[in-house]
Amino acid sequence: MENPRNLGLGGSLPVPNVQALAADVTPTLLRRYLRPQPSTDGVFPTAADGEAGLPVVDLGRLLDPGLAGQEEAAKLRLACEDWGFFQVVNHGIAEETMEEMKRDLVGFFHLPLAEKTKLAQQKDYIEGYGQAFVSSEEQTLDWSDMYFLNTQPPSYRDLRFWPSSPSSFRLSMERYSAETQRVATHLLRAMARNLDVQDDEKLTRIAAAQSMRMNYYPPCPPEERDRVLGVSPHSDAVGLTLLLQVTPVPGLQINKGGGWVPVDPIPGALVANVGDVIEVLTNGRYKSIEHRVVVNARQERVSIAAFHNATFGPSSMYSPLEEIVGGGEPLYRTITVEDYVKLVLSSKLQGKNILDAMKLPNHPAAPLIN
Ligand code: OGA
Ligand code: NI
Repeated sequence: MENPRNLGLGGSLPVPNVQALAADVTPTLLRRYLRPQPSTDGVFPTAADGEAGLPVVDLGRLLDPGLAGQEEAAKLRLACEDWGFFQVVNHGIAEETMEEMKRDLVGFFHLPLAEKTKLAQQKDYIEGYGQAFVSSEEQTLDWSDMYFLNTQPPSYRDLRFWPSSPSSFRLSMERYSAETQRVATHLLRAMARNLDVQDDEKLTRIAAAQSMRMNYYPPCPPEERDRVLGVSPHSDAVGLTLLLQVTPVPGLQINKGGGWVPVDPIPGALVANVGDVIEVLTNGRYKSIEHRVVVNARQERVSIAAFHNATFGPSSMYSPLEEIVGGGEPLYRTITVEDYVKLVLSSKLQGKNILDAMKLPNHPAAPLIN
């Protein structure tokens, strides 16, 4: 049985450690992080005015078999169709589980650099401490460090990359991982119902594999903060993402109505977003929305994105679901999970480029060369 732990599916070029750089930055070092002037490249358009906040889905209500459940399912449907992003409250994850995960992740990022680099990424693998999506020496870099772990199923874990300090990290991660996987599965089951997909396994299977992208954003020199991004605009090339803001510092923004709308997480909530794979499975009915992270001049920011995907296997595929395509035409390619992961890991993080590569020529928004 294929296991991503043992497959060199692709990695990232090594880049400077941003946390160390931020502590002692020079204009020369900063240059690789500067984007063209905001006014000329459209990277920083102003936020759309008057957008209400993200939709909120109450998971406890969603699981209610009665009317409350139906009402909440309608909210979920709207959130998936109109926003691609929503907050999940009343998710049932114990506060202790969340707090222990937060404490141990901040503890990890605060270890001396030499400790963390013991877990550095290796060539052609994404797991470990480093960065993702760097494919050329010329590309503008993101103002963040990343620590990436495969967490589910347990057989996908490579414990060589799990830290021994903080000593409770492994246990905290194990608990947090199981709980976020449970939440993701519930949300996908409810989506299947909303989409009239009878066999809900066709959606819940994309929560069978989980990996955690843990992000550390150091404060950025104030004079350059308008030309630096924590994470470039991108959509998540996964099934479903559940994001936890570990520190109460804002930064995440989503592209809505042509502008960037800041996400202001409700304390204790998870921010969910539809990934590219759900857009493919739903043949475009649910949209995977572009988002980015802006930097903060004074405070460090930490977040964890729990990415959910299907497991590997010779017949494990991503393709538009027949129930949704119906008599129409599929607008996205069919691809094995393994080839999809290879495509993702060899790409640069740039807008919806990965999803564009999945669009068939008959998709109304397909790029000209496909
Ligand atoms: C990501 C991401 C947002 C954040 O890791 O894919 O979009 O707030 N993170 O850190
Ligand atoms: Ni993302």
